[in-house]
Amino acid sequence: MAEITLRVSRYQPETDTAPTFQEYAVPLREDWAILDALNYIKDELDPTLSYRWSCRMGICGSCGMTVNGEPKLSCGTFLVDHAPGPILVEPLRNFPVIRDLVIEMTDFMHKLGAVQPWIIRDETEDDPSSELLQTPSQLDDYKQYSMCINCMLCYSACPVYGLDSAFIGPAAIALAQRYNLDSRDEGAAERLDVLSDDEGVWGCTFVGECTRACPKGVDPAGAIQRAKLVAANEAMKAFLLPKWAR
Ligand code: SF4
Ligand code: FES
Repeated sequence: MAEITLRVSRYQPETDTAPTFQEYAVPLREDWAILDALNYIKDELDPTLSYRWSCRMGICGSCGMTVNGEPKLSCGTFLVDHAPGPILVEPLRNFPVIRDLVIEMTDFMHKLGAVQPWIIRDETEDDPSSELLQTPSQLDDYKQYSMCINCMLCYSACPVYGLDSAFIGPAAIALAQRYNLDSRDEGAAERLDVLSDDEGVWGCTFVGECTRACPKGVDPAGAIQRAKLVAANEAMKAFLLPKWAR
């Protein structure tokens, strides 16, 4: 069977001064994604290689890597699309590397938590025996943003996050929109504090790489522009109107 070479980044920060590349020849099977090739390397050639994965079907968001310079899900990126190779496989950019292809995601998790990604309501006003019904069109308002799998490809593609890791970033803003646009939620004003501060939506220069990188069609760049409109509108109201009229 024909083979293809993967040039894979290897790095142990405790002992190495810089990443190096190691080459592996793997079978060029038509149905193999990069992740299948990495699993072949791990099982047959080199058990020391480290990388994350779980579902193998574009759902868990854990297998993001840089493939030939582009942030990709390794389970959804096929060897044949990069033949004849070699294929360069590196960790996602803009994140510290823990080992080989495994990146540190703590900062990303904090950013997701900062936008309070849950339904916020004053439950004292709710009738506990009734449901909060939603029409299909109300669901459509936020459904796109709920498709995010937290793969971090958008952060890896984002030049603003690359320069300033304090920027809250594309997926966190899309996640805030997922709840702000939910008809059951009353937390938009609380999230606005995070979205409109110095490291919030205004950091985005609308390069749009996040939307191009997103494997789930979330369009985080669009979410950021919508959030900017709301933030600008609220700032204008705060400036022009007395409190009771806002
Ligand atoms: S917005 Fe898209 S690219 Fe960003 S984390 Fe969510 S699914 Fe991944
Ligand atoms: S292994 Fe779950 S998204 Fe790729």
